[in-house]
Amino acid sequence: MTTATAEAQGLSFELGETQKMARDLARDFAVKRLKPLAQKLDEEEAVPRELYAEAAALGFFGIMIGEEYGGLGLDLVSYAAIMEEIAWASAAYQVCLTVHNSLFCKALTSFGTEEQKKKYLPRLARGELIGAYCLSEPGSGTDAGSLKTAAAADGGDYVLDGTKAWVSNAGFADIFLVFVSTNPAAGNKGISCLLVEKNTPGMTLGKKEKKLGIRASDTREISFRKARVPKANRIAAENEGFKVALAILDGGRIGIAAQAVGIARAAMDEAVSYAQARKQFGKTLAQFQATQMKIAEMSMGVDAARLLTWRAADKMQRGLRATKEASMAKLFASEVANKAATDALQIHGGNGYTREFPVERLFRDARITQIYEGTSEIQRLIIARETLAEAKQPA
Ligand code: CAA
Repeated sequence: MTTATAEAQGLSFELGETQKMARDLARDFAVKRLKPLAQKLDEEEAVPRELYAEAAALGFFGIMIGEEYGGLGLDLVSYAAIMEEIAWASAAYQVCLTVHNSLFCKALTSFGTEEQKKKYLPRLARGELIGAYCLSEPGSGTDAGSLKTAAAADGGDYVLDGTKAWVSNAGFADIFLVFVSTNPAAGNKGISCLLVEKNTPGMTLGKKEKKLGIRASDTREISFRKARVPKANRIAAENEGFKVALAILDGGRIGIAAQAVGIARAAMDEAVSYAQARKQFGKTLAQFQATQMKIAEMSMGVDAARLLTWRAADKMQRGLRATKEASMAKLFASEVANKAATDALQIHGGNGYTREFPVERLFRDARITQIYEGTSEIQRLIIARETLAEAKQPA
């Protein structure tokens, strides 16, 4: 395809003006506010709500929420670019934003009723309400469709009993998207999706998980014991919730792919500046080819992972299903992030193994990108499934 044809079809590897402005706003916030605090947040294993309020003031709690509800009304590529910048500074901080924007708010904008949107979106966009997404349970992670939290219909309410696990934002979220079983005999065709406000009687938060990485992100179990939730808080039709969960995860995985790109880029930046400053045998590390080979891999990996991420975002933005593209982006970017963090640590030698240098945190933070929002094994399964299904289509 000639360049001219590619342009005519709208293919572009550059951001547009609005997308660049969004990215630059996030970059400025990441460089000036988040990066200087990232180590402290990691050590304290928490983010002060005031620091989330700063992102909210920039509109980052309503990135894709329409302007009519008080959001920025930006597209998914802008979202991915913003997420990369924030994750470059602090992946743990970014988790809150990606869960809130692409798992919680996107579910509401795509599947909520007008009444639900009017009630919640303006406050979500302002960051007054922070959202969380509750799919996994102690007994169901990868096999998400086998969840057991029961929601029995009783008059105008559902009565919830069960436990959700690995809920990001749990400790400070104000509203939770909870996937429940409304027809246990029907398996994943008996799942529904409910909006549950915090302080709902019968709902209790578990202890904060002590994690290897993204320590400043708040992850907990949530239990429901005879917790009543109005039927008016259901998103989408009864028993149609599992498709909502999976469709929303496509967008969520773009946010995690962007997170992994941000971690990889941060690792590369640390490796480059250390390699240019540190001297051994009378030369900087950057002058050794052994270092240059690692830097080349990082540079190529970051670019390729970003392009896959933007491609998935662009396809979804055009209203097309991007299940395969989102899984490819998440899988590839998470592998790039782990390799880049490992190599950046190696370039730092013993120093990299200490908490004095950010690569130690990046190495720990990178690991989760291969696990949450679908493990690498599940991404491979999805990519294979989609590829095989495409091959069956008549030409
Ligand atoms: N979009 C829309 N619909 C979809 C879909 C998608 N991406 N993927 C599947 N569906 C549909 C299917 O077509 C099917 O519909 P029909 O019943 O009409 O045929 C239905 O949904 C069920 O799909 P499957 O039969 O494929 O379901 P499955 O039980 O085999 O599961 C799976 C498939 C890919 C393994 C899925 O369970 C999965 O993705 N597991 C990983 C779970 C996961 O990612 N968890 C993340 C937790 S959230 C988290 O980590 C957030 C955080 O805090 C950071």
